[in-house]
Amino acid sequence: MIRVENLSKSFYHQQDESKILIDINLHIKRGECIILKGISGSGKTTLLSIIAGLDRPSKGKVLIDDEPISKLPDIFASKIRAKKIGMIFQHFNLFENLSVYENVTVPLIPSGLPLDDIYRAVDKSLKVANIYHKRSLVASRLSGGEKQRCAIARALVADPDIIVCDEPTANLDSQNSILFIETIKELHLMGKTIVIATHDPLFENLNFKSRIVPMFDGKIDE
Ligand SMILES: Nc1ncnc2c1ncn2[C@@H]1O[C@H](COP(=O)(O)OP(=O)(O)O)[C@@H](O)[C@H]1O
Ligand SMILES: [Mg+2]
Repeated sequence: MIRVENLSKSFYHQQDESKILIDINLHIKRGECIILKGISGSGKTTLLSIIAGLDRPSKGKVLIDDEPISKLPDIFASKIRAKKIGMIFQHFNLFENLSVYENVTVPLIPSGLPLDDIYRAVDKSLKVANIYHKRSLVASRLSGGEKQRCAIARALVADPDIIVCDEPTANLDSQNSILFIETIKELHLMGKTIVIATHDPLFENLNFKSRIVPMFDGKIDE
């Protein structure tokens, strides 16, 4: 489903090269739940951004269902992303002035789907994410846990095969972190392919099948 092949990423400051990702190879099968585990600065966010086609590698490539998302022009990469990848971030990244319902609708606006289909998809993902009861509330009035549930609903609304989460529990208390993991378990049972970057120890002993991929200094030890 996802293949990362010989991937490297460097940033340059004048002539100084800093190597952020070094020759990464990672194969993720359909339906797998991957925990990308590493301390801050190990390159997790950079790797997730390249997998999602938001950033480009310096060397190597990323294939999503055999399509080289990392080599395609932005317009095609973003089409693959919109169709196949839902993203969940540490800081939720919601439109604070829009309602929960509107936030979750946003990814489907470019789809051109009939409105009834959009409403049906939005209702369904609000229910899966357990935030349907707050659908009319403006995002700025939600608690942290509720914001993350709204972000989950938004990530699910286009029914993507892949869910990518970057430090999803970093701003949640332990109770909401456990609820988040329960939702991830449901998505796993639905057959979604899930990639979670985290250093939260809660992800080390999940009660469903997952694979921990340790990352250190831009390298993966598989
Ligand atoms: N745009 C950038 N320019 C220069 N350095 C960057 C940039 N983005 C990230 N880095 C550096 O890359 C390293 C890895 O960052 P990141 O991928 O955010 O790690 P993590 O998510 O594991 O904390 C850090 O040292 C960070 O400072
Ligand atoms: Mg990060």
